[in-house]
Amino acid sequence: MAAKQDSAVLDSQFFLSAEDFFPAQAKTALTYDDLTLATLYSEVLPRETQLETQLADSLRLHIPAISADMDTVTESRMAIAMALNGGLGLIHYNMPERQQLSEVSRVKNHVHGLIQDPIKVLPDQLIGDVLALIEEKKFGFSTFPVVDARGKLIGLLSGHVVKPRYAAKKIAGALTPRKQVHTITKKELGKDPIARADKFFTEHIGIHKLLVVDDDDHLLGLITMSDVERIAQERKAQFKPARDASHHLICGAAVSATRNAFGELDRERILTHVGGLVERGVDVVAVSTAHGHTKGVGDTVHVLRDAFPKLPIIAGNVTSAAGVEFLAQAGANAIKVGQGPGSICTTRIVAGVGIPQMTALYVCARAAKRHKVAILADGGITKSGDIVKALTLANAVICGGIFAGCNEAPGDVMEIGGKIYKQYRGMGSFSAMKAGSAARYGHTTSSTQKVAAEGIEALKEVVGSVDRVLGQLIGGIQSGMGYLGAANLAQLREKARYIRVSPAGLKEAAPHDVVELKTGN
Ligand code: XMP
Repeated sequence: MAAKQDSAVLDSQFFLSAEDFFPAQAKTALTYDDLTLATLYSEVLPRETQLETQLADSLRLHIPAISADMDTVTESRMAIAMALNGGLGLIHYNMPERQQLSEVSRVKNHVHGLIQDPIKVLPDQLIGDVLALIEEKKFGFSTFPVVDARGKLIGLLSGHVVKPRYAAKKIAGALTPRKQVHTITKKELGKDPIARADKFFTEHIGIHKLLVVDDDDHLLGLITMSDVERIAQERKAQFKPARDASHHLICGAAVSATRNAFGELDRERILTHVGGLVERGVDVVAVSTAHGHTKGVGDTVHVLRDAFPKLPIIAGNVTSAAGVEFLAQAGANAIKVGQGPGSICTTRIVAGVGIPQMTALYVCARAAKRHKVAILADGGITKSGDIVKALTLANAVICGGIFAGCNEAPGDVMEIGGKIYKQYRGMGSFSAMKAGSAARYGHTTSSTQKVAAEGIEALKEVVGSVDRVLGQLIGGIQSGMGYLGAANLAQLREKARYIRVSPAGLKEAAPHDVVELKTGN
């Protein structure tokens, strides 16, 4: 018994709780690589850990991961992929407001497995035109819905007739007529479209495509059997999609503290913009700026809280307890913490300002507890171990760089030296500010030439799908929780014990003294 106590005392001298560790390090700002977490007795298997997190009364995620509101990271495709995996995407605001509204609608109207904008052909086209299209776009399929000029379904062009020998024939003479084409209305798909489509394909032997129409027979989309089978398989996954009460995927959108020509907060414009987002069903708005502890951001949050009492609001960014208190009192539910840690950020270099993440998170988390708001660790995350460390203090993480190389991120791919890349740029880079994000950094678009950029333009190697990247990150988070005996994120926050790492310790933590043949991925 005494020996057991001795061991506990010995451990507690080295591996300290957040309350003991961070104040003891008060003179040095620490980030992820400056510390490590101690292992603890565990009865928890990694695969059994729960990653649910609550960011506001009506905003719950199944995994604590959010894709950043950046124009090279989150538009509807990314937001859909994040929500399908149980997380959240914040649609950026470097686009006209109307476009942002449609991006939100795309996420909210997304029906899993439904191809919303299938490639259609017209009856007057020749089969030769379709063959040329397939060749040009490198389509891997050759069956197309046929519609009239107003989008009404008039038939299906089956792959069996899309052959060079019929090239000179008109589609009108080769299509399967409307009466023989299997369709379903969006209403009939109900709350579980995949189960409904799965049933349809079982009942209709040999049919592999189901067309979705509205009550007037306009084509709304297409469901394929192979997609349904893939999704049914994925459903066995542990983490369910993040959906709202009406079963739609959840979606967030960023807004700025917009000013009018006189430099005053443009309350009317902000309210109209957010009103439009709310009408489209947005689940949370993020008042996203580089400096959130400012009158403009506080007033914006106040205005939104008064106008939309139930709307979850994220606001930021801050790195101090006073900043958290200020935004919480203004009415924010979750506060973004991070000034300068981002992989494309130069704020600390340009402005000499910003606090390394773990210290910032500790200070902010303690203030957040007092004010009953959530904390989001924003920027600087490069590996799953960083996320585990962040989640010992924060309720979720926001990542840009980790997702920017995914297929679902906006932007074209480019090949350099045999490798495939995508553009990734800071929202404070010159080019992004010119495209609209200047207000985020307290500048106007017209003045971007006279100000210092706080971000760079970069490339990320293409890494595949969000599913794949999140799969690896979640696996890492669950491993970390297993080592700490934490069955859920609340236990992770409570149990974490920290110790500083020396430069040699950091070197020891990565592969060393070997010739690496294969990375862990
Ligand atoms: P990661 O490290 O995930 O960081 O790539 C993404 C976060 O970085 C912030 N951000 C910026 N910060 N200058 C900055 O100082 C910039 O140009 C910039 N652009 C994005 C933002 O918080 C994002 O979520």
